[in-house]
Amino acid sequence: MTPTESVTAVTLETSSPDETRALAAALAAVAAAGDRLALHGSLGAGKTQFAKGFAVGLGITAVVNSPSFTLMAEYQGRLPLFHQDLYRLAGSSEAIDGGLLDERQDEGVTLTEWAERLDAHLDPERLDVSLEVLDDERRRIVLGAGSRPQYERYLAAARDWVGMRP
Ligand SMILES: Nc1ncnc2c1ncn2[C@@H]1O[C@H](COP(=O)(O)OP(=O)(O)OP(=O)(O)O)[C@@H](O)[C@H]1O
Ligand SMILES: [Mg+2]
Repeated sequence: MTPTESVTAVTLETSSPDETRALAAALAAVAAAGDRLALHGSLGAGKTQFAKGFAVGLGITAVVNSPSFTLMAEYQGRLPLFHQDLYRLAGSSEAIDGGLLDERQDEGVTLTEWAERLDAHLDPERLDVSLEVLDDERRRIVLGAGSRPQYERYLAAARDWVGMRP
């Protein structure tokens, strides 16, 4: 399958959770300190699967699960990974008090599920990753870098991954 390309976004499809994890692992290869990825999509779209794969790509051996009850979990790999799930977030003050907007994140990569819950407080300098359910096993994934050139390397990595996959 050929990805749809534009300057600021790449759209592709995966046909299994394994493939979504493999894509995310490939993207993690270009991750740099301070990166933020906002993961969008309905319940069960695959945001946590993406996070699991991304963690593998950072060399993290711990199992990454949804941090719903703590809002944020931290893992150590090539870079620290901060995995946030804001589904149950009550309000932005909880986010600030709970350290969700911590400057330590500048040292690592932050993946945020349900980023829209933080709304205006979320760093606009981020890569948007939107997952859409097509059927049981297929997902459409849109990587959006908008006008943030520092995130274009993820788009390039996604194009390379699509070109290389069997
Ligand atoms: N192509 C695919 N990519 C990712 N997940 C897939 C795919 N096909 C099927 N699945 C299944 O969809 C589910 C995705 O669950 P996951 O927990 O990642 O979703 P989520 O977006 O994090 O949901 P939530 O909003 O509840 O946190 C898993 O059960 C996974 O096996
Ligand atoms: Mg999840």
